[in-house]
Amino acid sequence: MSNHIKIFDTTLRDGEQSPGCSMNQQEKVEIAIQLEKLGVDIIEAGFAISSKGDFDAIEAIAKKVRTPVICSLSRAIKADIEASAAALYHAKHKRIHTFIATSDIHMTHKLKMSPEQVIAHAIEAVKLAKSFMEDVEFSAEDAGRSDPKFLIKIIEAVIKAGATTINIPDTVGYQTPTEFGALIHHLKSEVKGINKVDISVHCHNDLGLATANALAGVLNGATQIECTINGIGERAGNTALEEVVMAIKTRRDIFKCDTQIHTKEIMRASRLVSQVTGSMVQPNKAIVGANAFAHEAGIHQDGVLKARRTYEIMDAQSIGLNTVELVLGKHSGRAAFGAKLKELGFTVSKEELNKAFERFKTLADQKKEIRDNDIISIVSDEVFQAPEIFTLHYAQVTAGNTTRPTACVQLIKNSKTLEATATGAGPVDALYKAIESLVKKKINLVDYVIHSVTDGTDALGEVTVRIQEGDHIYTGRGSHLDVLVASAKAYITAINKQLDGTKSGPKINAKV
Ligand code: KIV
Ligand code: ZN
Repeated sequence: MSNHIKIFDTTLRDGEQSPGCSMNQQEKVEIAIQLEKLGVDIIEAGFAISSKGDFDAIEAIAKKVRTPVICSLSRAIKADIEASAAALYHAKHKRIHTFIATSDIHMTHKLKMSPEQVIAHAIEAVKLAKSFMEDVEFSAEDAGRSDPKFLIKIIEAVIKAGATTINIPDTVGYQTPTEFGALIHHLKSEVKGINKVDISVHCHNDLGLATANALAGVLNGATQIECTINGIGERAGNTALEEVVMAIKTRRDIFKCDTQIHTKEIMRASRLVSQVTGSMVQPNKAIVGANAFAHEAGIHQDGVLKARRTYEIMDAQSIGLNTVELVLGKHSGRAAFGAKLKELGFTVSKEELNKAFERFKTLADQKKEIRDNDIISIVSDEVFQAPEIFTLHYAQVTAGNTTRPTACVQLIKNSKTLEATATGAGPVDALYKAIESLVKKKINLVDYVIHSVTDGTDALGEVTVRIQEGDHIYTGRGSHLDVLVASAKAYITAINKQLDGTKSGPKINAKV
């Protein structure tokens, strides 16, 4: 395909490095399935050597997701590359991505290697990766702050060794669009052999320039963009997939290229990643924010009513936003509910469908209209659960302006009912103290967020919590019409994930 820009999605690797965004295997597979529907060219499924959880998730994705290339990250180290090759064994299309830092500051202080040693490691890593598969990507970490002369030297060497994609990361988000575009232009014109390979850009958002920098790269010859859904990623995040894709589509007159993304799947992907990671999308976020297509000022509303193009540069439906939402209610049956789940992008097993349908029926008895966001919330509760070590059986809380908040909780573990009562500074404190006394563990709550899933006082309350143990952060979410029950469910989910720590949690021995 001419002028085709490859979309390399790293939501499951760089995205997962955002604090609190760790995902378990089932969650990662679900996201990978949605990325396949979205039409991404490459899925970076993880960093195989970093943990057993990452290795297993890459392997599971490699078995299940057959259209895109599945990629695993590796440092320029033998054991990393061997782990990536093993995790990717079952993939139909596979890529090893190996990297080493090339800036003076990283080579001196982090790697403690001379530039010659770095080149030697890079060549060896690419050759080893090449012995396992044809498709090998090399990244010059911190390329944005590297000496361009050294970059040319190392890139020529790894192309000779067999690299098929050369990635230029602005690892610390320091570059400006003019500067980064000029760097790509310089490499494209100076590096011998560069025309045989893809030039990739990987930009971080520390100065809010990740999307602009990636697009400047494209204008100067880059043929692959590394990005994440909702722009999640290390620190301030990465280039947001939805932003670069819609910029290229909307301003084809400028970029003169295409991606193969099915843009109608963007909204579903965004919601899914937000639900799974508990990382909310800011309302004014470009493309996928709740306000991205909302018109508040009277003068804008008037213009949009007369002709949408007065204030809208994109069609909301082109990113999969439903303008006409089919609302379900208590008379909706299992078939209508199943069809709605499909429309919202969920692939659920029969057992998950049954559980979610039960929840839906209970909710429909209490609430007249069940909106898409209600359904997304309850299905996420049922589908993205850690193994249920503890389940909530009963929770009652008394609180008020003249009462000492008191909670009574019953949890079930191995078919046994456990009960505890506790008082606290507030109702959530009392509830969480009662739960803690039952799980017999000191839990370190680092974040608690509550929001309503739809408008109205009868809305579902959705609670997201993050708890920390050592370097690991575990996210739990729960929704219910009673916000205290939602709070208890979120806390128990996070605790179950912590207790089942081998299956999720961020990197352990090989942080990038
Ligand atoms: O930001 C970065 O440099 C990376 C590399 C591993 C590609 O994530
Ligand atoms: Zn990165």
